Amino acid sequence: MLRKLQCPHIQAAQRLVLKKFTMLLFCAAMTISFIVIYQSFPPADASRFARSTLELEAEIRKMDHKIQFLEQGKKTYPEVKFLTYKDRKRILITGGAGFVGSHLVDRLMMQGHEVTVVDNFFTGRKRNVEHWIGHENFELLHHDIVNPLYIEVDQIYHLASPASPPNYMYNPIKTLKTNTVGTINMLGLAKRVRARLLLASTSEVYGDPELHPQSEEYWGHVNPIGPRACYDEGKRVAETMCYAYEKQEKVEVRVARIFNTFGPRMHMNDGRVVSNFILQALQNESITIYGEGAQTRSFQYVSDLVDGLMALMNSNYSQPVNLGNPEEHTIMEFAKIILTLVGGESKIIKKTAMEDDPQRRKPDITRAKTVLKWEPKIPLMVGLNKTIEYFQNELRRSRHSERNFHMPENIALMSY
Ligand SMILES: NC(=O)c1ccc[n+]([C@@H]2O[C@H](COP(=O)([O-])OP(=O)(O)OC[C@H]3O[C@@H](n4cnc5c(N)ncnc54)[C@H](O)[C@@H]3O)[C@@H](O)[C@H]2O)c1
Repeated sequence: MLRKLQCPHIQAAQRLVLKKFTMLLFCAAMTISFIVIYQSFPPADASRFARSTLELEAEIRKMDHKIQFLEQGKKTYPEVKFLTYKDRKRILITGGAGFVGSHLVDRLMMQGHEVTVVDNFFTGRKRNVEHWIGHENFELLHHDIVNPLYIEVDQIYHLASPASPPNYMYNPIKTLKTNTVGTINMLGLAKRVRARLLLASTSEVYGDPELHPQSEEYWGHVNPIGPRACYDEGKRVAETMCYAYEKQEKVEVRVARIFNTFGPRMHMNDGRVVSNFILQALQNESITIYGEGAQTRSFQYVSDLVDGLMALMNSNYSQPVNLGNPEEHTIMEFAKIILTLVGGESKIIKKTAMEDDPQRRKPDITRAKTVLKWEPKIPLMVGLNKTIEYFQNELRRSRHSERNFHMPENIALMSY
């Protein structure tokens, strides 16, 4: 009987029943699991879970953008040289936010020195040095040098003073105070901390010269009560003070008599020949010449001046030194050169000559050549093109946030 039951047909039927039973059990288990899962994640929560994932992803994307933005806007500085403490100097530049001062800042920063700028922003702009703000070697102090200053420095480049006629005539008393009281304050500081001081004097100490070209031995021809006297006499007395401090207090002084200088960052409205002519030509306005245009000027590019100032500061020579470009042009020639470089339709027109306007200005730079081995290198056309480009960018600016950087590399790249 048993043997009958174990016949192959019965065994196949048993296996089939077992298989079906197992499948039934599996389906039941699946259904139970689904119910359990469903109850633990009701549809509302599931969608919330999905939504919060989306929100998280969006948050991450936002932060990604932020990081990218911050990385783009991260302040980077031109690569400055590393100097050990023996070679690194603490250098103060009064008027360092101005035209010449800001180029000097660039050069000294690039050399790896610690630079402090003191400026009251009368004619200077933070924009001129903003590319250094935050750098560990750089400090900007909003300070008027008519008030005393107490800091520790090794060298002082004393440039603070309005330089163009409209600026220094705007408030003649302040111009006098800056050049007299301000210079005394800086000389007092130099005496206290045993720093060397370089005064940025001017070719205007020669006034309307009767001698041509002007050498440092020439005592000048200045009208002491004319409209330019606040500046001319202010600088003359500043020179006198320097030599009084040298003699009496043993302060090391250097005096640079700077002739007309031009370049990027010069004031657009400083009323001087270069800026006037470039602006007028760029805007297709008439180019105005005061007088017949036969008066002469010589113009040096700002990087040449910076070379000269640094060479003088680091020399052993303490008498005044002319720094300028002896290449002389009449104002009329100059107007024509600018007109050619800019192009456009401007006409040259003549107006009444200005009071006390010097007729001839050309430096004798024999002394600078001999004692400093210095002479200007940048050709007039190269300098003018750089300046025209800078002015063009300035005129194009329509929003405050737009920048017109003239980075130090631009000068360093110019190899002449
Ligand atoms: N640029 C030239 O062609 C030229 C020619 C001869 C001499 N200089 C001399 O070179 C120096 C720099 O001239 P610049 O062309 O750069 O002029 P600038 O007007 O651009 O710079 C002068 C700087 O001195 C600052 N300043 C003025 N009075 C100040 C005060 N009381 N306290 C602190 N800061 C003050 C101004 O804000 C400005 O930043 C000046 O002393 C000027 O007399 C310049």
